[in-house]
Amino acid sequence: MPAQEARFPPVIPLGTDAELVQLEPQDAEEIFAVVCANRGHLGQWLPWVESTLAADDTRRFLEQVAANREEGKTAAYSLRLRGALAGLAGLHDIDPANGVAQIGYWLAKPHEGQGWMTRTVQALLGVAFDGLGLERIEIRCAAGNTRSQAIPRRLGFTYEGTLRSAQRLAGGRADVRIYSLLREEWGRLGSVAGREDRIRG
Ligand SMILES: CC(C)(COP(=O)(O)OP(=O)(O)OC[C@H]1O[C@@H](n2cnc3c(N)ncnc32)[C@H](O)[C@@H]1OP(=O)(O)O)[C@@H](O)C(=O)NCCC(=O)NCCS
Repeated sequence: MPAQEARFPPVIPLGTDAELVQLEPQDAEEIFAVVCANRGHLGQWLPWVESTLAADDTRRFLEQVAANREEGKTAAYSLRLRGALAGLAGLHDIDPANGVAQIGYWLAKPHEGQGWMTRTVQALLGVAFDGLGLERIEIRCAAGNTRSQAIPRRLGFTYEGTLRSAQRLAGGRADVRIYSLLREEWGRLGSVAGREDRIRG
């Protein structure tokens, strides 16, 4: 078994009929179709959407993800609900020497508002803190992206500050808000059952 398979779980169960499945280049057609069906929804906040014009663009992204995984820098997953692709999420910029990483995510529009991405990020935090032994996880959100900001806030992250004009979006340049969670804060969030109550509130 390659070393990375032991470090990054290939499949992470999220409960009945839901799981995170490690991204592979053969997912390109399926992911590209979901991106195309959600161009307006995703393109507002994710600058790569406008340059994703063919399944080959998605395949190149997935090949880069696989190469980064081999180097231990990225652990990216599709969120699957009854097997169907609902979104993508992952740890990126993993830096074991410094004990840090970032989390990024997107959901197809029909799956918003049901807590799937909060549960997904919670599972990725388990990989990061319990599996990889990292010390700090960061989530960066455009200042106007309140739905995205609600995820780290719901999970007990701390808002640390704003990087001015740090991102180019389809609508123009955007300030970027940084949220972080530390290992000891993750421990204080309590049992899995306790977290579930908390994130619903
Ligand atoms: C950012 C994004 C993933 C957020 O999606 P979301 O559906 O709001 O987030 P979740 O799946 O965690 O769902 C949270 C919602 O489900 C509700 N919910 C229901 N059950 C829940 C549960 N068990 N746990 C948490 N929330 C739950 C929450 O109350 C919340 O609803 P609200 O917005 O009405 O308050 C999505 O809007 C998206 O993909 N946007 C475009 C791409 C993007 O912006 N990516 C991030 C770039 S930084």
